[in-house]
Amino acid sequence: MQPAAVTEFRSIVGAEHVLVDDDLRAGYETDWTGRWTGRADAVVRPGSTAEVVDVLRRCNDEHIAVFTQAGNTGLVGGSVPRGAGHASSIVLSTRRLGALGPCDEASMQVSAGSGTTIAAWRAHARAAGLDTPIDFAARDTATIGGAIATNAGGQRVVRYGTMRSQVRGVEAVLADGTVVGSLTGLPKETAGLHWPSLFAGSEGTLGVITAARLQLVPRYDQVVTALIGVHSLGAAAALLARLRASVASLDSVEVMTHEAVALVCDHLDVTEPGRSEGSGPPPAWVLIECADHRDPTDELAAAVADVDGLGDVIVAHGGARRERLIELRDRMTEAIAATATATGRPVFKLDVAVPLDRLDDLAAVASDAAKADGARLIAFGHLAEGNLHLNHLGVTDPIRLADVVLGAVADMGGTISAEHGIGVAKAAWLPLIRTAGDLAAQASIRSALDPNGILNPGVLTPTRPLPPTRPLP
Ligand code: MLT
Ligand code: ZN
Repeated sequence: MQPAAVTEFRSIVGAEHVLVDDDLRAGYETDWTGRWTGRADAVVRPGSTAEVVDVLRRCNDEHIAVFTQAGNTGLVGGSVPRGAGHASSIVLSTRRLGALGPCDEASMQVSAGSGTTIAAWRAHARAAGLDTPIDFAARDTATIGGAIATNAGGQRVVRYGTMRSQVRGVEAVLADGTVVGSLTGLPKETAGLHWPSLFAGSEGTLGVITAARLQLVPRYDQVVTALIGVHSLGAAAALLARLRASVASLDSVEVMTHEAVALVCDHLDVTEPGRSEGSGPPPAWVLIECADHRDPTDELAAAVADVDGLGDVIVAHGGARRERLIELRDRMTEAIAATATATGRPVFKLDVAVPLDRLDDLAAVASDAAKADGARLIAFGHLAEGNLHLNHLGVTDPIRLADVVLGAVADMGGTISAEHGIGVAKAAWLPLIRTAGDLAAQASIRSALDPNGILNPGVLTPTRPLPPTRPLP
């Protein structure tokens, strides 16, 4: 990169917010899993929308690639630099864009800078007697901007939908410095294209999200948590159907295989549930939370009593007992990462979803594929969306494994990415679930907004080697 560009970035954002030394850049150049890594000339950390505008103008003029990054909790290599045909590149960190406005109780909305963490958004909402519709384990580091850019999900999607459904307004800066969108948050408006819809899931390719107007939800203080053993994922789906039909307070329905629970228990050094009574563990566990203004225990108990063939049921009403159950799910990713670190090989993650009646088929395909590779499969996820996170430890041939699993997922009418995004990790398999027409139209939108192709090059772009194209289901 030309020294003049670095000088200009310093004059825009302040010298202390332009990181050029190897050791200072390092934390921004490798992703959370350790699988995806690259090199940028500088990390630039603007503190306002106006600074983002000036930084992007300079990058656009000089064709400097921009890898937008927030919490760097992404799992598909979408926010770290990579060689992508640009002579120079920056990581544009949005972490300083963390301002939170007042919570508007009548509209149940709040404006937030895109660098606000999910945890800060949540604490702010709860302090105002409200809550956030989105929550997930990486809450302390993951940000609102990243959650919008990947259309993140998490535990509460069963009740409120994904991040896309929570964005009432967005402010973003296009590659040439044009600011688009608004934070007025009108819940009803039909006046052309809807910027929040366009930016949700765009993975940093259409512009840099700088702020958003977000929906809030009621804060429910009466919570009941239940961990229930099931003999198959199909049985878990049958339980889900019963809950959906009769439990209005249903807040989250997570699923973990026995192997996943055993791993996290080992990591936390606690006894595996179902083992203390001397019984063998069930093949999978469903972790349910119901939340309401009134105690939802009876509602949940009545629904569960109607379902045949369930295993152990462990119930908690808040407090330390609840924390212990939630920890099994919340610290799963940490447990997997720790195990991967101990083996010296990064985890290979596939985040997929299939129609609920295909969950057992998916489990069988994934298990066979992992066995064939010699990898250890740790599967867990968000039951209500048919979304499993397939984590492979000690994988030998990730491309082949992805070919088999993602191909089967597409054949089942599922998706190769339910909530982590496509990034670079899944880009080669995009044609499995998108037609050539879809991809061409998306590329046209992208090049119209970013004609020099500076924004997150490589992401969401099908690359070689491509898997065989399959007919859409
Ligand atoms: C989760 O559900 O915990 C996240 O999506 C993270 C992960 O899959 O590791
Ligand atoms: Zn997840």
